[in-house]
This record gives sequence, structure tokens and C-alpha cells, in this order.
Amino acid sequence: MSIPYLRAAGTSLVLDARGTGVPVIVHWGADLGDLNGELLETLADASVPAISPSSIDVPLRLSLLPTLAAGWSGRPGVSGFRPGGRGGVALDLRLTEVQSGGVRAGVPSASGRTLPGTQALTIFLTDAAAQVTVRTDLELSVEGVLRLRHTLTNTGDDPASAPFELGSLDVILPVPDRAGELLDFTGLWTHERRPQRSTLGHGVWSRESRHGRPGHDDSYLMAAGTPGFGFRTGEVWATHLAWSGDKHVWAENSALGYSALGSGELLAPGELRVAPGASHTTPWTVAVYSAAGLDGLSARLHPWVRSWSTITGHRPVVLNTWEAVYFDHDLTTLARLADAAAVVGVERFVLDDGWFTGRSDDRRALGDWFVDPVTWPGGLHPLIEHVHAAGMDFGLWVEPEMVSADSDVARAHPEWVLGGVDAAGVGGSGAVIGSASVGVSSPALTWRFQRVLDLGNPDAFGWVFARLTALLNEYPIAYLKWDHNRDLLAGSAHRQTVALYRLIDAVRAEHPGVEIESCASGGARVDLGILERVDRVWTSDTNDPLERQQIQRYSSVLLPPEYLGGHLGAATAHTTGRTSELSFRLATALFGSAGIEWDLTRANESERVQIATWIARYKQLRPLLHSGVVVRADPSDPALELHGVVSPDQNSALFAQVALAAPRAALPERMRFPGLAPERRYRVAPLSLGVPPRTIQDAPPAWLAEPGSSGAAGAFGTDGSVTLTGAVLALVGLPAPLLAPEQAALFTVDAVDGRR
Ligand code: DGJ
Repeated sequence: MSIPYLRAAGTSLVLDARGTGVPVIVHWGADLGDLNGELLETLADASVPAISPSSIDVPLRLSLLPTLAAGWSGRPGVSGFRPGGRGGVALDLRLTEVQSGGVRAGVPSASGRTLPGTQALTIFLTDAAAQVTVRTDLELSVEGVLRLRHTLTNTGDDPASAPFELGSLDVILPVPDRAGELLDFTGLWTHERRPQRSTLGHGVWSRESRHGRPGHDDSYLMAAGTPGFGFRTGEVWATHLAWSGDKHVWAENSALGYSALGSGELLAPGELRVAPGASHTTPWTVAVYSAAGLDGLSARLHPWVRSWSTITGHRPVVLNTWEAVYFDHDLTTLARLADAAAVVGVERFVLDDGWFTGRSDDRRALGDWFVDPVTWPGGLHPLIEHVHAAGMDFGLWVEPEMVSADSDVARAHPEWVLGGVDAAGVGGSGAVIGSASVGVSSPALTWRFQRVLDLGNPDAFGWVFARLTALLNEYPIAYLKWDHNRDLLAGSAHRQTVALYRLIDAVRAEHPGVEIESCASGGARVDLGILERVDRVWTSDTNDPLERQQIQRYSSVLLPPEYLGGHLGAATAHTTGRTSELSFRLATALFGSAGIEWDLTRANESERVQIATWIARYKQLRPLLHSGVVVRADPSDPALELHGVVSPDQNSALFAQVALAAPRAALPERMRFPGLAPERRYRVAPLSLGVPPRTIQDAPPAWLAEPGSSGAAGAFGTDGSVTLTGAVLALVGLPAPLLAPEQAALFTVDAVDGRR
């Protein structure tokens, strides 16, 4: 076991764990085929580099946990110090043991679920002089998803000896030189998941979150690939930190001659103090290699997430009340909205913000989690009974981590408010609360007029847990939309994030049947840490389909579509003011966990019929959409996109050809359908959702025209279809309909040579 070799689904990892040095990753990337012990020894030996001029006098190798003591002057894997000691500790770790169970029957995930077939390695390191040990857990799933984490223990056994002040404890993975192009993400409120590309020169490209949540500008994935890598092409190595608090993720190309991807929790000075005898375990870093572009990452990540998914059953079609009524709650209005929702086929009615005591706008009442007695004299029972009678289940919005200064709870317990509450009761004074926090404080600014409840305070935690469970006990609530609408800016993000996870886990333990959606002003908290605890994420507060095309496209690189809430909004988007046609809004909201965020009582009869048709189609397509393989073509025209979902057995698929803007050429490039079985024959046909996309063509492409028709101007497909092989559809493709800007055309693709 001194050279562990883990292989799964076309990817592999070779670790040189010989001797007493910190093990070195000799290879992480493509599968290297069968290698016996002798060949592995030879590979490891042959990988030892030269000694460069003006360098340490032994070959420098990038280890699993590099430090200065081992000659690594790039970003270290671990840093810290002991107060009273002489400055920082450059840990000099030695390997003591490698444990491997080979392929185990099941490895528990962080939330306790087992991941069958996962290969696991545990590496034990120690620095006896510094009285520190590090245990590294490394797992490779059957899908080829690698994940790693460290546990640092302060082995000082004298309770009087100093704690170890942890500066950083990060996972660093080598990537080859050819992975010189970076992709990560940035964004804003209502514009999440904007891709950004750069070239990795010498130095560090670091993305850091100090929001106390990943943030709208979350790096999301840090991917390094061969130049020009796309959705379908190029080699890509990517990491994601499964954590919902502060973090740093980076790519480093060191002049020492190594490139690496690093990630870990971003700790404030003094935030994490490991007491003698105590341990700290990092979040998991999830790492994926693809030989076939970003789709290859999704092809590993989606089935892996599905293997431990909290989702049971199908995702119901949601109507969320936010953009329909905002804070204007009233039983009659909401009952009418529920009726309109039920008629078109909605399955879940979610009452958003505004239902609790005194919540007439966003300036007050967060934390007072009692149903407002004025608006709801009979509690929520009459509405829920109405919703149930209409055949839907009921969901409720909450924001448990927050508190308004203008709330009964903040008035009664100002010590529960992170950063304190000033005399005027609105915050902003910079008072430091006397919690058991670790001395991190900052001016207590308000944000959306609200403050943060210190969940690390056991009394505050107990209060909010009691209120949530009281609501869940009193009302038949199937679903919580769990919101989080500000950065922390005070207190310890670590302590708050740990407490948040504990809170969700406790609520779920008491009410295992309740589904939870993670929302943070839209998509400011979409990560694999929260995902172990929730069933859905709200990817953005914008329902503008043009924005949503991009947000859903890139959100789905990491997450399977059934997790990604996407709603049909009003014609004129509330967030951007852009007006979009119904067909485009429907086609956009179809791919994901679909819902509606629109006052349906204002929709006209024809719109309601079209929405009902859309929902009926969605219900038919849902098994495919929520279990299939997500594929995206790499069109050369950035105005056009083709994406789809192919069933795992490659029997059927649904594709969307999307025109984000006017095409570059009068005749757009052909639609080339990826992901089908090359040798099989498929019938491609347009799918109507009740309203066709707008086109600018005088006549449709020949294959789309109804046999015998001349192809009426403006027509999308009529009854046209074509049957060709998967190889032809992928390599030659089909002429696209000439879509007007901001339109999408849907196509079903079905195998005609017998299903398998
Ligand atoms: C922000 C969310 O993202 C919205 O969907 C809505 O729930 C509001 N908060 C309510 O305050």
C-alpha cells in the first residue's frame, strides 16, 4: 500500500506514500490502466524530478500537505501557531500510517449516508515536536469523484499547554502544466454564476468569500483545463469546497514548477483555536477530472450527488407567492391564487415572506416566527386547508438565521444579535457582543434592514429551533423555503455555519418528511455542504429567462437539474424590466425543478391554457429531466446554445436550441446533438409547449416542414421530423430553425430501433 492506486470510471489517482515524507500525488487525472506494484514503483520513481539550481538540495515534490519545512514556498497546506511560541509553526509532518480498505461496501457521507463502492484511504501524519497530527481522508467514488479533507489534532496532552491557532488547513491538488486555462465564476444578485476565464501565469489566482455564505459572486467551481476547453472538449480538473461559509479557492502556478488547485475554509485570525486534545476537521474538497470538457465533470458529479441525494420522489411543480403578492398577504387573494395554480396543474403552493407577526415590509419582524394574528386570525389553517382541498401541498418561507432589530425577539434578547444592537435599535454601532465567539467582531451594519441571529448562542439556537418545530408541529407543512438575505459581517462565519448545519440537521431529524429549499437572496448559497441537507436550491431571484438561461446552464455544471429551482415569471421580469415571450419563459423554466412565480390571477385565458399544457408536458418529461445526463453543445456563435438531457439508457432525450441574441450569420450553424448512442437511430421532432417560439424564417428547414407543405412563413416545426443515427446527429447535425432573439425551440429525440 505504499503506492496506493485508486481507479474509477476513467479516472485515477496514484499516491507515493513510501518513506516518512508527506505522501505525494504522482498522478490525478485520466485512468492509467492496469498497473501492478512493480510498474507503480517505477512510475513513482520516474516521477521524482531533477534538483533545480538555487533550490533545496533534494528533489522538490508537491505533497498532500505542503509546508515550508518541506521546501514548498507556494501557498502552504497548513499554517498556524501557538500563542506565546516564537511566531508561526512551519509544521514538519511525517507519515506514520496509511490505511486502506480497498473498495469498501459503503463509506459514510458527511450526513451519514453511505456511498457504496467508494475507495477510501486514510493517511496519518504527525509532527511530534509541534504536538500536532493530521489525518487526511481521501475517497474516490464509483463515479470518479474524488474528495479529501483533513483533521488536525492538537496532541499536547497537558491541558495547560497552548492551543494551536489554526491559520489555514487546505486541500491542494496538483494539475499538469497543460491545464493552463482557468474557469471560475463570479456574479451579482440576480446575475449569479457568470463564468470568467483567465490564463494561469506564475502566481496565485485566488477567489475568497468573506460573506459568511458563498455569495452571489461565489467561485462555485475552480476549473483548470487544456487551452480552449469547452463543454464537450478538453481535459479539465476542477475543485469545489463543500462548505457554506467563508472560503478560499485558488489556482497556483509556482515558479518552482508546479501547478495546483487549492481550497479550504477561510479563517479569520484567531477564529479557530484547537485546544489540547481537540481536533478540527475541514470541509470536504470535491475534485473531478474530465477528459471531455465540462460535461464530463457533470457526468461524474450528477450521479454522485444523486447517490446520496435527499430527494425522494418527483419534484412537485411549485407556485411561490413572492412576486405575485410580496408582503401583501390576505386570505382571499391567496386563496384565489391557489385556485388559479391548481387549475393549471401546480402541485405545491409556497407562502413566501410576509406571514409572521408584524411583517408588513422588509424592515421588521424577522425572528418573531408566529403567524400574524391580524392578517391571519385563524392562523394559516384556512389557507392550508384551501390549498389541500385544491389538491396541492403547502410550503412556507422562513429565514431562521436572521433577526430584525425591530422585532420582539431582538428587543428581548439583544445579546442574540451578532454585532449587537445599538440604542436606537437599528444596529450600526459596532458594539461587540459577549458571546463565546472567538473575539471576531465588526461594525454591526444592517443589510436589507436586518441583522444576524447568533446561532452559536445556545439560547438563540434553541429559540429558533423551537419556533420552527412548533410551526411544523402545528401545520401540515411539506416544504420550507429557507432563506438567508445578508452577509454576516460580524461574528465567526465558522461558528455560524457549523450551527446552521446543526440547526437544519436537527429540524430534519425531528421532521424527516419536510423538504427544504436553500435560498440566499437567490443563489448566494449553492454548495455541496448545504446540498447534503436540502432538496432544492433557488438559483437566483431573477425570473428573467434570458438571465436564467445562463444561471441554470452554469449552475447545472455542478448540480443535477432536479435541484435547481426555475420559475415561470411575469412577462416583464420584476428584476430586470425586460419583457419576454411566454414560449421563451416556458422553455427556460422546463429544465430544472419547475415552478411559477407570477400572479396567475392576472394571466389571460390563453396564457393559462398554455401554462397548463406546459405543466402537463413537464410532468411527462420529469422522469427524463430529473434522472438523465445533462449535455451542452459548444456552438461557435455565442448567441446560440444547444443543451439537453439524455436518458441514462440513451433511449430518449430532450434538447433546447436557444437564441440568446441575433445570430452571427443569416443561417445559424447546425444543431449538433451530443450524448446520443452513435450507432442507434433516433427520431428528432419539435416539441410544442402550446405556444411556438417566434422565428424569422421565410420557410423552416426542410426536415422541419410538414410533408407536402410549402413551410408557412413564421412556422416553427409542424409535423416535420427526421430519423438519423446518433453519430450523424452529433457530427453532422441538423439545420436549425431561424429563431428570433430570446427564443428557444424544443426537440424530442427518441430511439426508433427498439428501446433498451
Ligand atoms: C429573497 C428570496 O430570494 C426571494 O425569493 C424572496 O423569498 C425574498 N427573499 C423574501 O424576502
